[in-house]
Amino acid sequence: MIRAEGLVKEFTRPVRRTGPLAGVRSLLTRERVTTRAVDGVSFTVDRGELVGYLGPNGAGKSTTIKMLTGVLVPTAGTVEVDGRVPWRDRTRNARGIGVVFGQRTQLWHDLPLRDSFELVAKLYGLDQPDYQRALGRFTELLDLHEFLDTPVRGLSLGQRMRGDLTAAMLYGPPLLYLDEPTVGLDVVAKARIREFVAETNAVDGTTVVLTTHDLVDVERLCRRVLLIDHGQVLYDGDLAALRRRYVPYRDLVVTLAREDDGPLVAPPGTTVVERPRSARDTARVVVFRFDPAQTPTPAVVAAVTAEHEVVDLDVTDPDLEAVIAEIYSSGRVRA
Ligand SMILES: Nc1ncnc2c1ncn2[C@@H]1O[C@H](COP(=O)(O)OP(=O)(O)OP(=O)(O)O)[C@@H](O)[C@H]1O
Ligand SMILES: [Mg+2]
Repeated sequence: MIRAEGLVKEFTRPVRRTGPLAGVRSLLTRERVTTRAVDGVSFTVDRGELVGYLGPNGAGKSTTIKMLTGVLVPTAGTVEVDGRVPWRDRTRNARGIGVVFGQRTQLWHDLPLRDSFELVAKLYGLDQPDYQRALGRFTELLDLHEFLDTPVRGLSLGQRMRGDLTAAMLYGPPLLYLDEPTVGLDVVAKARIREFVAETNAVDGTTVVLTTHDLVDVERLCRRVLLIDHGQVLYDGDLAALRRRYVPYRDLVVTLAREDDGPLVAPPGTTVVERPRSARDTARVVVFRFDPAQTPTPAVVAAVTAEHEVVDLDVTDPDLEAVIAEIYSSGRVRA
C-alpha cells in the first residue's frame, strides 16, 4: 500500500541576526539555515496493516505524513501510495486516503457538522444512497446524533475529532492517516476513537498509519510500530518484540492470605521481588519475576499457588512507557 524509500525533507529559512545593521547584513549575505526534518526514512506498509508511527516531539512524524498525503514534496527519496506518487497526483491521491490531524480540523468552522459532511460527499462525488448509508453508520459508531446540527466551532474537542474522523472516512478510502487523533481527549473519548480505528481496520480492512504520544493507543491498536527520532528510523517491527528486547520479564503479583506465610519459595525460573508495602495494601504482596519465554506463565502460577495460600493474583507486563522513554533518551534501540 505504501512504499517510502530514502525519504528526506529539509526546511530552509533565512538566518536571523541581531545587532546593528543585522537586517541589511542578512539581506546582503542571504545566509540560510537548513533543518533536516526527515533524514532518509524507508519503510513499506502492506494493505490492511495498522502501523504506529512513533517518536518524540520534533522527530519528523507529521512531516513524513505530509509527504505521504502529498501536502509536502520531499527534498529527496520516493513515495508510492497505492501505485501513485502523492504530490504529483494530488487529486487522485486525495480520493484514496482519509486524513485526520488531531491538532487542527479539516471541517468548515461555521457550518453545522451535517453540512460539512454533505460538502465532503459532494467533493468526492458520493451518490445519495452511499452517502446516507455511510453517514448512518458513522453516526451510530461515533455517536454523533446529539451534535450533527451544531456548527463546528461550537463543538467540544472530542466531538470535533469524531466529526473529523467521519469526514475522513465518509467516501470509504482504503487508507487512513491519523496524526495524533486522541490528543487532548478524555478517557472515554479516547476509547471511542480507538474502537472506531480498530473497527475500521478489522471490518473494512482499512490500512492505518497512526501517530500518537498516547501509549495506551499503541498498546490497544498497534502490533507493529515504527520508531523515529531526528528524522531516522530507530526501529521497525513487532511491538511485543521491542518490549521483550528491553524487559524480557513478566511479573506475577500475589497477595498472600497471611502475613507470615513461612519462608517464601520461589519456583524454578522465578525470582522474588518483595514490593514495598503501600498504603493500599491490606495484606502482604509479593512479586515473582520470570521470563515467559523460559517459564510459561501457567507453570509459575501453578507453582506459586501450590506453595502459598493466595487471595489475589495478577500478571503484569513491564511498562511500555519505560521502554519508550529509554529509547528516546538514548536515541537508539538496543541490538
Ligand atoms: N514548515 C516548516 N518549516 C520549518 N521547519 C519545520 C516545518 N515543519 C516542521 N519543521 C521542523 O521539522 C522537524 C520535525 O517536525 P515534525 O512536525 O515533523 O515533528 P513531529 O514528529 O510531528 O513532532 P510532534 O510530536 O511535536 O508533533 C522539527 O524540528 C520542526 O521544527
Ligand atoms: Mg507532529
